[in-house]
Amino acid sequence: MNNTNFRSIKPICDETRPKVFIETYGCQMNVNDSEVVLSILQDAGYALCDSIGKADLILVNTCSIRDNAEQRVLGRLDVFRLEKKKRKVLVGVIGCMAERLKEKLLENGVVDIVAGPDAYRDLPRLVSAAKLESKQINTLLSHEETYADISPVRMDSNGVSAFISIMRGCNNVCSYCIVPYVRGAERSRDPKSILREAECLIANGYKEINLLGQNVDSYCWVNPDKESEHVDFARLLEMVALLDRSVRVRFATSHPKDMTDAVLYTMAMYDNICKHIHLPVQSGSNVMLEKMNRKYTRETYLQRIAKIREILPDCAITTDVIAGFSGETEDDHRQTISLFNEVGFDSAFMFQYSERPGTKASRHYPDDIPTQLKTERLNEIIELQNELSLDRNKQYLGRICEVLVEGRSKRSADDLIGRTSSNKTCVFPANGHKPGDYVNVKILSCSSATLIAEIVED
Ligand code: SAH
Ligand code: SF4
Ligand code: F3S
Repeated sequence: MNNTNFRSIKPICDETRPKVFIETYGCQMNVNDSEVVLSILQDAGYALCDSIGKADLILVNTCSIRDNAEQRVLGRLDVFRLEKKKRKVLVGVIGCMAERLKEKLLENGVVDIVAGPDAYRDLPRLVSAAKLESKQINTLLSHEETYADISPVRMDSNGVSAFISIMRGCNNVCSYCIVPYVRGAERSRDPKSILREAECLIANGYKEINLLGQNVDSYCWVNPDKESEHVDFARLLEMVALLDRSVRVRFATSHPKDMTDAVLYTMAMYDNICKHIHLPVQSGSNVMLEKMNRKYTRETYLQRIAKIREILPDCAITTDVIAGFSGETEDDHRQTISLFNEVGFDSAFMFQYSERPGTKASRHYPDDIPTQLKTERLNEIIELQNELSLDRNKQYLGRICEVLVEGRSKRSADDLIGRTSSNKTCVFPANGHKPGDYVNVKILSCSSATLIAEIVED
């Protein structure tokens, strides 16, 4: 493929340019948004730098999902305040917290610019205006913005695996969740622009593409010129998989109420679509699921799991769970524990409930589980999941798996690190291989988090 058709996706190195430092919190979509922001700022004459000490502009791309995510950022603002005392530097808060707190962020005297997730094209203007005048803010949400025409500049990249956001926002109203308020309504990106971005990554040597959305199963692009023509997620997945059969495709997040069999059959059809589904359950109790407004039951969730196991027997399944949601009884909690045992997840992201201002839960359901009990329940789930992860990993012992090499192991420069199709992290001696190579490895031992392996040369 001809590289010259595509814009550079690497950060520009140019000592003469003003410098921007970008720090990112939150989900993979936020990481990808920072890459969009860097692209916009590079076009406006900035270059990336790697420390706040060198920066003319410090941006912090923020997350509001739980209170502790916001507290971390507020702590960072104190560090930026010290830097501002030393010299002239602009500080911008962007992303979900900017959207949630708006003008309030300007009150502490540190922040010069506030920009919400749909206002990134306006950043060059906001920055110029903040240099000349007073503080600047744009937190308008949009029904159309998908940044489809912007080539994200890949920073902190291993050069092997990259994200593509296929949609923005969320139309669900899970009662505990702040995302719909800070990210706005769901919109799907034009598949042509997604394929163009994927082709650009492939031309730059990337071997794995991660398609991102809050609920990928509701991806639906309708051709504005011909409304009868539409592309759903199963079709998009297939189109991306067909670009290059030696390039892996992953996706997240799937929603139990929307995941279709068509997606599962598409996954089964293409070797390069990785056999891993992240299917957040949130709770094993129907009472909690109803109150969370998740729109599925324990039974229908388990039916989805059964279907995955039937169509994709080797597929890893991971989940998210919340401990201590409003009114959660000991019985509700036991139902979560029993669901975890029944499914045997490969791994899980586990959280205690954090009430978010403005959500339906904050208005109608008291945050009435004492912190200590939330922590106890969370710890019980974590302990169980550690055992389940170890059990799942043990099933790999002695097996031969194809692994995509992603980099050097942090513990030993002689070892490489990579992942199986099922998203298991493997560590193995390099044997002359390098990031971006596919290797077959034999699994020798494991912990709950990692498979230890050796390369089998054929
Ligand atoms: N769109 C995805 C997940 C988005 S947020 C989905 O529908 O599942 C990632 C995870 O954070 C959620 O799955 C949930 O487990 C957790 N989460 C969201 N809001 C939370 C809150 N108020 N308190 C604790 N955890 C929360
Ligand atoms: Fe939040 Fe629910 Fe949307 Fe996920 S699907 S982002 S949990 S509202
Ligand atoms: Fe956080 Fe916003 Fe993502 S709230 S989880 S950064 S969409």
